Order: sequence, then C-alpha cells, then structure tokens
Amino acid sequence: MTAGKPSAPLRPPSNVDIEVRLLMEAIYLKYSYDFRNYTGASQKRRVLYALDQLKLPSISALQDKVLREPGTFALLLQFLTIPVSEMFRDPAYFLALRRQVVPHLLTYPSLKIWVAGCSTGEEVFSLAILLREEGLLERTLIYATDINPASLEKARKGIFPIDSIKGYTANYQRAGGRRSFSDYYTAAYDAGRFDPSLCAGVIFADHSLSTDSVFAETHLVSCRNVLIYFNRELQDRALGLFHESLCHRGFLGLGAKESIDFSGYAGAFEVLSRSERIYRKGT
Ligand SMILES: C[S@@+](CC[C@H](N)C(=O)[O-])C[C@H]1O[C@@H](n2cnc3c(N)ncnc32)[C@H](O)[C@@H]1O
Repeated sequence: MTAGKPSAPLRPPSNVDIEVRLLMEAIYLKYSYDFRNYTGASQKRRVLYALDQLKLPSISALQDKVLREPGTFALLLQFLTIPVSEMFRDPAYFLALRRQVVPHLLTYPSLKIWVAGCSTGEEVFSLAILLREEGLLERTLIYATDINPASLEKARKGIFPIDSIKGYTANYQRAGGRRSFSDYYTAAYDAGRFDPSLCAGVIFADHSLSTDSVFAETHLVSCRNVLIYFNRELQDRALGLFHESLCHRGFLGLGAKESIDFSGYAGAFEVLSRSERIYRKGT
C-alpha cells in the first residue's frame, strides 16, 4: 500500500441510473436504436417523464412493456428524441449563413446539404426559404435525416401550427428575410401549409448519428441542437461523420449551445463564426 491521500471512493450508480442503462441496453438489443451514449441526467429526466405520462409504476415495468410491445417503444421514442424545433430558430445563425456561407456556396454549380437531426422539418424549410431567396434552391439537394419516423412524417407534410407562425415570422425577419413570410405558406384553419415546391429537392430519410455511416459528400452540414444530448464519445462519432461527409472546405453549423472546441475534431475545422457556431473544414 502506498502512503498519501486515499482516492475518493467511487459512488455506485443509483438504482434508477442502473434501470435507465438497462432500458437503453434492452432497446438497443431489441430495436437497434442506440441511446446508450446520450447524456445521463437529461436521459433520466425524459425516462421518468415518460413513466409518468404512460402511467407505469417503474422503469423495469416500462422495459418489460417496451420489449413486448413495439407500440410502446414507438411511444417512448417520442419522449427520448425531443421533437422540438422552430423555424429560423436562432435567427442570427441563419443571418450568418446568408452573409458568410452563401457567397461561397454560390461558387458551386450544384450543392448538397445535410440537415442532421431535422426533427419535424422546421430547420429544413427555413434553409429552403433562405436558399430560394439567394437563388440557390434549384441547384441544391438537401438530405434531411432523423431517427424518429413520426417526426420525419410530419416534416414531409410541411404543415406547422398557425399559433407558431407569428414567432416564425419575427425570426424570419431577424434572419434577413427578403420577402413577406406569408408568401411561403397558405393558412388554413389552425395551420400554415408551406409551399411544397420548397422541398422538391429534399430527401427525408431515416439515419442515425449513433449507428449509421456517411451516405454522401456534402457542402454544408447543419446539425443543430442534437449533439447537446450526446456524451463526448458520441459527439465525436457524429463530428467524424460530418467531417467525412464534407467536401474540401465544406461548412458545418451547430446549435447555440454546441461547439467543436473540446472534441477530437477541434483541429480539423476553422472557426467561421464563433458566436453562431459555424465552422469550415480545414485545409
Ligand atoms: C431538439 S431536436 C432539434 C431539431 C432541429 N435540428 C432544431 O435545431 O430545431 C433533436 C433531434 O435530434 C434527433 N436525434 C436524436 N438522436 C439522434 C441520432 N442518434 N441520430 C439522428 N438524429 C437524432 C431527434 O429525433 C430530434 O428530432
């Protein structure tokens, strides 16, 4: 035994932590969805919220139901994936894309853009509007991917609640929008249906940043408010996919609370806008 300060004893995980981990392992084995490397605290909160909403007495009871009933897994997926989005979310990000990235994109005869973790489509429609206003939409193919099939289904429809549109209009204007936002949708009852021609060049597809690989070379990857739910290891995996997918000097946009600074890819990108989390693949 060596003399000196004894190291602090490791605190064993709580029963709830153990049950959450077992649930994620069961989901992976049964359905191949890999939530094992998501951040613990927020994942635990979401599981406990699901438990409450599904009126189940324990995580073990939830695991039992998830294993036996694919329908329960589909419900749980809605809690685990946080399908929350908005159009022109963080308007300054879209303004920076317009001012700092678009001039470079205009130099390519054709473009491929990957919106990873696109949720219910608000980010995709925002980008499509911006690209149309900059004369780029017709030459662009957008891959909009997510792991939640229900979100992708909503995204394909391009119908968003009318209550949200007032806020989206303000975001659009702050993002440097050049027209009247109402030019892009038709209001009917309690919803706004966005111009379907905006997504004529959009491919909505199931793709997991946890388990799938790169599928195309792209000029811009926009992955916002997704890495925040991943641990360091999974963040690095996702950033590795983006790095591999991006062409020479391609662009990467992340969410306001995300960054490549402490990742294994910090040296592989240069910072184009630190405040808006926009990076450019290094030389
Ligand atoms: C909070 S939403 C972000 C939506 C949009 N990007 C935005 O910023 O408004 C997070 C999305 O990431 C998706 N997601 C979670 N894990 C994922 C994974 N492993 N691969 C791909 N998408 C994932 C979720 O399904 C969800 O739609």
